[in-house]
Amino acid sequence: MNKDETPSFSKSAETHLPSKEVQSRESSNHITVGRRSFIRGLGIVGATLLPGSALLMRQAEAQEQSSGRLTKGDADLLRFAAWAEIVESDLWTQYNELGGATTRTGGNLAYKLALQNLDGDMPQYITDNTDDELSHVAFLNAYLKSKGAEPVNLDRFRTLPGSTATGVDKQKIGKRLTSLLQLNVDLSWYTRYRGEENPDLGAIFKGPFNILNEPGIPLNDTDTPPNTVVPAPPIPPGSPAQRIQAIANTAGFHFAFIEQGGTSLYPTLALKATSDEVLRILLSIGGVEIDHFSLWHDKAGNAVSQPLAGVIDPENPNGAMFPDLNDPAALARLNLRFELTQTNKILPEPCDFLFKDALPPCSVIRPTSTALGGAVATVKSFTADGLFNGQPEGFFDFAMQLATAADSARRKL
Ligand SMILES: [Fe+2]
Ligand SMILES: [Fe+2]
Repeated sequence: MNKDETPSFSKSAETHLPSKEVQSRESSNHITVGRRSFIRGLGIVGATLLPGSALLMRQAEAQEQSSGRLTKGDADLLRFAAWAEIVESDLWTQYNELGGATTRTGGNLAYKLALQNLDGDMPQYITDNTDDELSHVAFLNAYLKSKGAEPVNLDRFRTLPGSTATGVDKQKIGKRLTSLLQLNVDLSWYTRYRGEENPDLGAIFKGPFNILNEPGIPLNDTDTPPNTVVPAPPIPPGSPAQRIQAIANTAGFHFAFIEQGGTSLYPTLALKATSDEVLRILLSIGGVEIDHFSLWHDKAGNAVSQPLAGVIDPENPNGAMFPDLNDPAALARLNLRFELTQTNKILPEPCDFLFKDALPPCSVIRPTSTALGGAVATVKSFTADGLFNGQPEGFFDFAMQLATAADSARRKL
């Protein structure tokens, strides 16, 4: 760009004043910050103005930090992150057993072939994503323990049936934490990252199509025999391969759904961290979740572009139909705009950020608000996904307890 050239939006953006609503929200932030700085500035004299309980709390926090222990808020953030990573590890382990590159059992041939119709490297990517999640759990729990904080263990909830198809680890049948047998995959992330509006500022997105009550893994060998012939795409209509291909396509979109959740969750948690080290942990693991999301976003697009587009699950035609999202005629039928569906537009479109229409559009992760991207929102969205079908009330109580604590954490300066 020429030195004197500036993007066309910058002039108007500089002079554009935030809306009244934004101004009032901003000014209340300034009041908060101002008061905090004011009290800090008062030092010992100011401290005498604090109520006794607040002073004691502050002294306890200072002691925690100087003794190398975590503040309660930081421990709560990492404990929820550990919960989310245990959930991720369980589901990725199931995907890896059946579709990964390195499995003890050799996996499920038909499923692997169908996954490779999305990308020849799918098995390797699945194995690597699984390793990443397992490392996240091991690190977070070890770090919590090293700081004298309680780690997270969900073993008592590993009771779900899971798949019995060729390829699963037989010892784990009946011992799953998550269910991949009947998924409702929320695809709103697909249009959200192609849109120019931000959910944190009120925008609502709908996915380009629906995946409802569809498995993400083969259920059993009767439903999808592991020796099913799965041709390279296109998959002929009426072919027995349509069922296993629809399951593999669902997995492709489910991978992206899970990882976009982590992509929003980690920055949301990081904004509440007090210690530099906890901030570093959340940013560094969070970055890998973004990396995962970007990869799966690209692969999922191959299920809805030629030559693979058009697969319909014969067992669930209304719940798993994968249209061609690059085909103008199909888009017109679905009442969709091409710019919100184009499959190779996988990098986040610049959108409103912080304030609506007040600043230039910016390519960012969204959402990053606690309400939409935080811990409670994550539990709710994973639950709606069907991941926890069959879990008892105690599972949800424990999840919400950890999530509420994490969402309540506040950065202490
Ligand atoms: Fe992770
Ligand atoms: Fe992840």
